[in-house]
Amino acid sequence: MCGIFAYLNYNVNRERRYILQVLFNGLRRLEYRGYDSAGISIDDYFSVSRNPNTPQPSSINSLSSSPLVFRQEGNIESLVKSVYQEVAVTELNLEESFTTHAGIAHTRWATHGVPAPRNSHPQTSGSGNDFLVVHNGVITNYEVLKETLVRHGFTFESETDTEVIPKLAKFVFDKANEEGDQTVAFNQVVLEVMRHLEGAYALIFKSRHYPNELIACKRGSPLLLGVKELNDDVCNGSAFHDAKFLSKNGNPKELFLSSDANAIIEHTKKVLVIEDGEVVHLKEGGVSILKFNNDKGRNGDSLSARPASVQRALSILEMEVEQINKGKYKHYMQKEIHEQPESLTTTMRGRLLRGGSCKAKTVLLGGLKDHLKTIRRSRRIVFIGCGTSYNAALAARPILEELSGVPVTMEIASDLLDRQGPIYREDTAVFVSQSGETADTLLALEYTLENGALCVGITNTVGSVIARNTHCGVHINAGCEIGVASTKAYTSQIVVMAMLALAIGGDTISKQERREAIIDGLFDLPNKIREVLKLDQEMKDLAKLLIAEQSLLVFGRGYNYATALEGALKVKEVALMHSEGILAGEMKHGPLALVDENLPIVVIATHDACFSKQQSVIQQLRARKGRLIVMCSKGHVASVCPGGGCRVIEVPQVEDCLQPVVNIVPFQLLAYHLTVLRGYNVDQPRNLAKSVTTQ
Ligand code: F6R
Repeated sequence: MCGIFAYLNYNVNRERRYILQVLFNGLRRLEYRGYDSAGISIDDYFSVSRNPNTPQPSSINSLSSSPLVFRQEGNIESLVKSVYQEVAVTELNLEESFTTHAGIAHTRWATHGVPAPRNSHPQTSGSGNDFLVVHNGVITNYEVLKETLVRHGFTFESETDTEVIPKLAKFVFDKANEEGDQTVAFNQVVLEVMRHLEGAYALIFKSRHYPNELIACKRGSPLLLGVKELNDDVCNGSAFHDAKFLSKNGNPKELFLSSDANAIIEHTKKVLVIEDGEVVHLKEGGVSILKFNNDKGRNGDSLSARPASVQRALSILEMEVEQINKGKYKHYMQKEIHEQPESLTTTMRGRLLRGGSCKAKTVLLGGLKDHLKTIRRSRRIVFIGCGTSYNAALAARPILEELSGVPVTMEIASDLLDRQGPIYREDTAVFVSQSGETADTLLALEYTLENGALCVGITNTVGSVIARNTHCGVHINAGCEIGVASTKAYTSQIVVMAMLALAIGGDTISKQERREAIIDGLFDLPNKIREVLKLDQEMKDLAKLLIAEQSLLVFGRGYNYATALEGALKVKEVALMHSEGILAGEMKHGPLALVDENLPIVVIATHDACFSKQQSVIQQLRARKGRLIVMCSKGHVASVCPGGGCRVIEVPQVEDCLQPVVNIVPFQLLAYHLTVLRGYNVDQPRNLAKSVTTQ
């Protein structure tokens, strides 16, 4: 939900200006995770160039050798502006150079407390900034902890759950000192804090008592360490074990902590994916990791008393900086819509086999091959997801039912949890999640694991919690998606699930022709997407026509019921226009009452088994003077709109089960243009964030 970032330069001179830039850029890369407030903390050692007589403005908390804290409501650029304003007022020297320095940063999506400086991070232990924390996640037992801390004399200034963490750290630190342990190490303080925390979190700690050190720890929320050795005699080669790295050495280096790889990739590709229960200590150029053997925390068994020291291998990020830049596009959403021919190609690469020695066309999903028999023997397949990911599963459901012969049911993750719906050992549960860290989906996964079903993950984030905690799965390889509204991940998810249907369907002779037609269709799909993307200008024109509308209905059925839901979701979430996807078969049972000559209605009527039913829907809507926009297969205008009089969107025809991949593109374009024309932020829709890590 939020984004956390840290930058530590060791044995390499960096000016304060540079440090600020690295922190701000890190936040810009993470901004899609939350953008209602932001903050940073850097050091101030009272340099000679600073005028000690200059009064401190109230928003800067500073003591001698104390971390400075800057927090601001609004997006990252508001923070940047306010920091430079404060810097000017306080005459903080931007040229001051630090051989070693540790800075932390945060961008927030509010869960506890309104967006305001006091609720922004870093949250602090109180005046003096003994301990500072940036947090992504939710602490579920914060009220109990707060009560205890208040009884010990702590006062709270925010409404956040996070504030208990730095205060708890101060409590632990002070207690150790009272008991005479003046050498208590930073990681020991954090280990003790972690023992008391329930919920999901990724945390970075900074402290006045441990200058130039940072601690990162996590449970549930993602966190990566990036390593850049400047005189790199250790890190050559594609991967290395970090035993060497863990030893202290004088090599100048820069270390980065981040919620995701986007903020690290421009500095280094060498990363360590921090695991649940780990406490990572950055100190004097070294990295030491302690791990609780049992990472369940206080929700389950208590954390093991003696965390053990662990050594971990660094991995190499398989992404390029260009992937996270906008390139020639104005917005990420626009870029991601237009790169779908390439993202789909990557999704399918190496997984579709045509010809070869056996001449058969088949699908190979490496992550599933050992589990296919179990899946085929399942009592049912249950798709579980939220939002767009749920819609993608819904689009794939008919083909899975058809090819596998196994009953397929759908579950919105939160609803499954609310109902505690039945899940059986004989079920296969497929978890669909772009981010792999959506809280509802994650909790549904825990619930499903407890009930003994086989769990399959379909995610776009390697190493995500859902990817790691499922028994097996498929990575959709759509590439990083930064626009908050999911576009290319949606189409890649459908394609992966179509391939899943083919893989589960196996090699039954009766369905061979159908399977081969789908595989041919998959091979040709990127070309068809290129073709449908040519509707860009047409969708812009349509957006101009709809710019002032209050509402839009979308009717779909069969394979394209999902398209109706997803198309309406896109318009709703970015263009902030009410829009509703409706199962066309339900039209007569209520929604028809809404129809008049003003309300715009899109009817999806591309050619498939439901076509004639959609023709009749169109007739009924026209009979009521409905204001229709019909999406039809190229060349079929006359059959959807005999006699003319309705606006038509013609799309290329593909195999029916792949048609949702094509049909969603005009809706994505429409939503994009509507948003731009209405003057809203396309990539950061109001109140939303990319990954929803709270329930
Ligand atoms: C809408 C959108 C959301 C997500 C939903 C689940 O454009 O992106 O509806 O699909 O929040 O997220 P993931 O797929 O990360 O589990």
